[in-house]
Amino acid sequence: MHRNRKHLYLWAGAAILGLAWAGIVGAVSNPQLPASPTLYRMTISALFPPPSFPQDNPLTEEGVALGKKLFFDKGLSSDGTVSCATCHRGNDAFADSLHAITPGVAGEVGRRNAMPLFNLAWRRGFFWDGRTTVIREQVFHPITDPKEMNQPVDGLMNRIAKDPGYKKAFAAAFGTKPITSATLGLALEQFLLVQISQDSKFDRARRGETTFTQQEERGLELFFTEYDPGRGIRGADCFHCHGNTLFTTERFANNGLDAGDGKDLGRFEVTGREYEKWCFKIPSLRNVELTPPYMHDGRFRTLEEVIEHYDHGVKESRTLDPNLAKHQGAINLSPEDKQALIAFLKTLTDEAFVKRAKEQESQAQKP
Ligand code: HEC
Ligand code: HEC
Repeated sequence: MHRNRKHLYLWAGAAILGLAWAGIVGAVSNPQLPASPTLYRMTISALFPPPSFPQDNPLTEEGVALGKKLFFDKGLSSDGTVSCATCHRGNDAFADSLHAITPGVAGEVGRRNAMPLFNLAWRRGFFWDGRTTVIREQVFHPITDPKEMNQPVDGLMNRIAKDPGYKKAFAAAFGTKPITSATLGLALEQFLLVQISQDSKFDRARRGETTFTQQEERGLELFFTEYDPGRGIRGADCFHCHGNTLFTTERFANNGLDAGDGKDLGRFEVTGREYEKWCFKIPSLRNVELTPPYMHDGRFRTLEEVIEHYDHGVKESRTLDPNLAKHQGAINLSPEDKQALIAFLKTLTDEAFVKRAKEQESQAQKP
């Protein structure tokens, strides 16, 4: 591809970004905190938009460490068999590549695919239907869900408050604040907020540290190009929904999985708005190589199946997103172009992130 065009496409994702932002997070002083906790420092890519970290829960080394201990603790579930990491595996960018629907306690299964956990400071609503907007509250959904960890909060807090290891960890993180569900929520929130994925091949290419193969380059071009055969343009049109540095616009959309007969009504269940029936949170495509199976119900096992869906499997219904409805059923990519799109999606894998996730997992499993 022509050099200038190549640059154009590399930056197309960034164009929608607006503000470039660089910063060291955690350098916020909070007079409420006892002197001891160490502020957690991390650097965020200047190519990312500004994150939103909660003002009233400053990130500290001790808070993050406590959150990590909780995240990997099977004792949070009623029968001691399920931790957060049972469904959010370090190896899979904190999703679960082993199951479409991960079983919770006593093998009970819910109805949705576990989501990967990273870049949550940029997310506007949590879960496939966006039913909560605050992480510290979100974490109690899986803890109390009878099909996930099935643990009444009071019982859990009683047990944790008596555990010498937790007593020490809560004191280190929150000083004299009592051990309550509120502080537990804050610690898990801190741990989740520091899971940032920003170092994939795509990021390195944008920093000029590596270059794409021709095939990856072609995939990028398809991803960020319209499908408008009337004007002779035949891209794959992914960018309307997934096209920015975070690889999600954070909207809810119906991407045509069902013909208006899906049992899970998605966003509609939260808002009751007719036009949001069968709409789901547009997932980030970062690390997507590691997070099969795909979609809210894990119906597609491979990226190949996902591409076949967008190529000619999109089903009509009254809430189908206009960006897909305009394809009228098919975009008919060539086999080479399908492979190129997949090669591009694989440039979004962040090995450094996964390595860190696995390290956290093994640290937390040490007694
Ligand atoms: C039995 C499997 C299971 C367990 C255990 C579990 N999760 Fe989840 N998690 C899921 C599923 C499934 C979803 C999507 C649910 C939905 O959309 O209704 C999800 C979604 C999330 C999300 C939303 C992510 C986003 O981008 O919107 C967060 C955050 C999260 N889980 C954190 C946790 C934490 C923290 C724990 C432990 C306290 C935990 N999960 C335990 C399966 C699980
Ligand atoms: C109209 C908006 C829209 C467009 C355009 C779009 N997607 Fe999606 N995409 C979504 C939504 C919404 C979901 C989740 C749907 C669900 O689970 O019900 C999704 C899910 C996915 C997933 C699964 C991710 C996961 O973690 O399960 C992949 C992969 C994906 N899209 C890739 C693409 C590619 C490649 C293109 C272009 C060919 C594309 N998308 C175009 C909205 C869109």
